[in-house]
Amino acid sequence: MNEIEVGKAIQNCGVNREDLFITTKLWVQDAGYEKSQKAIDAALQRLQLDYIDLLLIHEPMGDIYGQWKAMEEAYHAGNVRALDVSNMYAARLMDFLMHVNVKPVINQIRTNPYFQHQDTKQFMDQYDIVHEAHSPFSQGNHQLFENEILLKIASKHHKSVGQIILRWLIQRGIVTLTRTTHLFRMKENMDIFDFCLTDEDMHQISLLDDPQGNTFDNRNPNVVKRICLNRYHYDEEK
Ligand SMILES: NC(=O)c1ccc[n+]([C@@H]2O[C@H](COP(=O)([O-])OP(=O)(O)OC[C@H]3O[C@@H](n4cnc5c(N)ncnc54)[C@H](OP(=O)(O)O)[C@@H]3O)[C@@H](O)[C@H]2O)c1
Repeated sequence: MNEIEVGKAIQNCGVNREDLFITTKLWVQDAGYEKSQKAIDAALQRLQLDYIDLLLIHEPMGDIYGQWKAMEEAYHAGNVRALDVSNMYAARLMDFLMHVNVKPVINQIRTNPYFQHQDTKQFMDQYDIVHEAHSPFSQGNHQLFENEILLKIASKHHKSVGQIILRWLIQRGIVTLTRTTHLFRMKENMDIFDFCLTDEDMHQISLLDDPQGNTFDNRNPNVVKRICLNRYHYDEEK
């Protein structure tokens, strides 16, 4: 939802295009072959780019095979460098892998100390699909920042809870994708490569896993309904 602003920033930032890695995604409302073709063109236009580094499917809902076909064509045409899925659990991902030509390189899935996806990660490792964590801070959920175990580990390493979470993901071999509107937090979130969590720290964090508490779980029919009804853009529908 910020492609226009990102496009302007790319034009004005003074960094060479090849030094930037630009990711965007197709919404469920764009599922299907023709809608996705249009959505890819619209994204390229908004971003003012002739290629996107990584393009993903937001959720495995609606006609994702038609959507993927349009993405594969954009990939072969050089308009997209890599294809990615999102929020796919292992069984769904297996089905998908069995029915597409260009394999997704990444599965972007909500992952944080409360939703660790240990099984899905194991499956992805087996099939060489990179696990990318979206919402590593549970979208700013303050409970996470006040968790006693995380606070204790943070204090021991003289780091913030945010840094502990990001470091924990990195040590699990997970690419992290966080978001902040504050420059000081951007710097903080990148400053995680001068320390290591111990095996005991990793074990303590592993005990926080609470998959049942995931209110965004797309195996819940109400969540699926809500996502399918969401509209993220209107212009292209007119
Ligand atoms: N594929 C999907 O289905 C999906 C779903 C959701 C999100 N995403 C992607 O995931 C990325 C992450 O976004 P997100 O909003 O979901 O999640 P997030 O990174 O879990 O949370 C962002 C929130 O955490 C706060 N924050 C950031 N760094 C912090 C720090 N060091 N200490 C304390 N608070 C901090 C930010 O507040 P301030 O701005 O005030 O710093 C913001 O409110 C986005 O690029 C988004 O596009 C993907």
